[in-house]
Amino acid sequence: MRTYRLHTAVETARTLIQHIINCMNEEPNKIFHIAFSGGNTPSLMFDLWANEFRAETAWKRMRIYWVDERCVPSDDSESNYGTMRRILLEHVPISDSYIFPILGANDPKAEAFRYSKQVEKSVPIVFGLPSFDMILLGVGEDGHTASVFPGQEHLFCSFRLYEVSINPHTNQKRITMTPNVILNAQRVIFLVSGKNKKNVVRDIVNSGDLTPAAYIAHHASNVELFTDVND
Ligand code: 6PG
Repeated sequence: MRTYRLHTAVETARTLIQHIINCMNEEPNKIFHIAFSGGNTPSLMFDLWANEFRAETAWKRMRIYWVDERCVPSDDSESNYGTMRRILLEHVPISDSYIFPILGANDPKAEAFRYSKQVEKSVPIVFGLPSFDMILLGVGEDGHTASVFPGQEHLFCSFRLYEVSINPHTNQKRITMTPNVILNAQRVIFLVSGKNKKNVVRDIVNSGDLTPAAYIAHHASNVELFTDVND
């Protein structure tokens, strides 16, 4: 795993955005299928992207998906899609036909199935599973990533592309990409900011497979960590 340690959340987000732009510029004829996570951390990145990197991003070569979604309508403040649309997507020249939201207001099981079919149709298949060019992941303080929480390790055995899960802290239903799809990505990128994430960053970098995030970090083939957490 390549680790990029910066001093602040802003520097971390800027460095990650520039890294994504550089990766896309290295393959100027390629369409990039990128799945984003939600939560609070990416919001700073989305804001900086809209305000500082809009012009240099190849938006027409980007196809945008979600790693997970809360089972709420898109106008709910909890919506990962709604948040990214409000902060970034409404401010950049990307066609709606290149944006594939998980519809959080739909019946969860039906939406997990529908979205799995959408991803299967749109994302190139490698080793029998969709292989995203980049998957951006956050990490919760309990070591969850995507919406795969400790104690939900059964999701690691699923060969469905997306499953319904539950945030055990809030009982909120989620739709999540399953670990086998995450592990099949060309590049897995963790974005982790905040002193409260010191322990999970240590787990990702040093420990065994103690949590979903650590397992993914240790078993994905090409992993990068961008963080402002410094030991
Ligand atoms: C979500 C995310 C989730 C998130 C972590 C970290 O929908 O909540 O996909 O995995 O990345 O919980 O969230 P914060 O950035 O808010 O700490």
